[in-house]
Amino acid sequence: MNADLITRYSAPVPRYTSYPTAPHFHEGVGETDYITWLGADSHGPLSLYLHIPFCDRLCFYCGCHTKQVRRYDPIATYLKALNSEIAQVATYLTAGRKVTAIHFGGGSPTIVSPADLRTLRATLDDNFQIAPGCEISVEIDPTHVDAERLGAWRDFGITRASVGVQDFAPVVQTAINRPQSFEQTSEVVEILRDLGVGSINLDIVYGLPHQTREMLLRTIDLSLSMTPDRIAMFGYAHVPWVKKHQSLIDTATLAGPIDRFAMARAGAETILGAGYEAIGIDHFAKPDDSMAVKLREGALRRNFQGYTTDGAEALIGLGASSIGRLPQGYVQNITATGLYCQSVSEGRLPIARGFALSDADRATASAIEDLMCHYAFSIAELRARFGDAADDVCSDALRESFNADGFVTFDGDTFAMTPMGRPFVRTIASRFDRYINQGQAKHSAAI
Ligand SMILES: C[S@@+](CC[C@H](N)C(=O)[O-])C[C@H]1O[C@@H](n2cnc3c(N)ncnc32)[C@H](O)[C@@H]1O
Ligand code: SF4
Repeated sequence: MNADLITRYSAPVPRYTSYPTAPHFHEGVGETDYITWLGADSHGPLSLYLHIPFCDRLCFYCGCHTKQVRRYDPIATYLKALNSEIAQVATYLTAGRKVTAIHFGGGSPTIVSPADLRTLRATLDDNFQIAPGCEISVEIDPTHVDAERLGAWRDFGITRASVGVQDFAPVVQTAINRPQSFEQTSEVVEILRDLGVGSINLDIVYGLPHQTREMLLRTIDLSLSMTPDRIAMFGYAHVPWVKKHQSLIDTATLAGPIDRFAMARAGAETILGAGYEAIGIDHFAKPDDSMAVKLREGALRRNFQGYTTDGAEALIGLGASSIGRLPQGYVQNITATGLYCQSVSEGRLPIARGFALSDADRATASAIEDLMCHYAFSIAELRARFGDAADDVCSDALRESFNADGFVTFDGDTFAMTPMGRPFVRTIASRFDRYINQGQAKHSAAI
């Protein structure tokens, strides 16, 4: 593809795990709004996201809300607050609400001791009805986990594990402060399978310091040899103005947009060649995996964790920095763990900010989610769901502005990305974003 086009469409834009995106949340939405929203919530199924913002080490590339800890005390204090927050939130919901999906993210949730994990499960059971067949997933750093801890997660009831690989090349691992052997990683995958964890996802990252196409492809080959059910291949998001420790990565060792594009393409071809199906911008799944099935059914969704099969209308975020989504809007918890714990201990829901959605926001959010998941949206469907509010999503002028580069088509109803345009869907989605030019948010490269 034309280098100029790649460069132009690789300019920094959001990843659209929500619309509006988190930098546009504001302090005008707080605890009182959240309590009202929770009270007005329907009786439908819920999903829960629990954030564990601690790690045994700090990887220089990491873009997550986490910190390195050397003692267990701060984790124990945090878990006490997390248990309290679960009980507090539940008091505002109809008793015994059914939960169909739980995701543990971090940080490294596997840092939680087996005893504390049992307490957490008991708190969840006391406050919610965990539905039979509930999908329970956890992010795992395979370098800091053992069979006992993994056994505790099996007892918790996990159905899916997401194991971080990133890259196996030593030169990359040194630059990102993450030594991790293939043997160590495959042993964790084997233990998980022996424990009966039905679905394994592996995370790979391209665009890391010193990483070449060959290193990426070798990492993919080694990952494929573990026969994961899903693979996520993320583009490295270098945002040192947000994540100060990323300044430890020398930008001169990072690939530019053309090389990143080539890496992403070569990586995708290899994974597709091994029989996986492409799911949106950065996921791949075996054809019989539930994510591939949902994609074929047109029911794939996108939320703060990325692509998801979870169709629940309400996502409750628990723990520091967690984001929740209710039909009325978004709320985000306080990020600093000390302030988060203090708020919970004083009996206040730890909401830092949020965003109340208008009908026009909901219509745009739906169009952007459809683009990110299915590379298309239908104006007639938007009108059927959102009425007049759908009219503002896509003006004639905006539609026409896309035509020149051959990345989109419009047949009078359906707005669709061409195969050539698909890698640039974040950039195309950003053109529908009414808030993108407001505020100071700086994003990561689109490719
Ligand atoms: C929340 S992290 C936690 C996973 C776990 N602690 C580990 O390190 O394996 C989940 C995934 O996000 C991805 N990730 C983290 N920082 C990133 C960044 N700056 N750019 C792109 N992907 C990133 C990595 O692939 C990582 O496995
Ligand atoms: S990549 Fe995982 S282990 Fe490394 S700092 Fe981030 S959350 Fe922690």
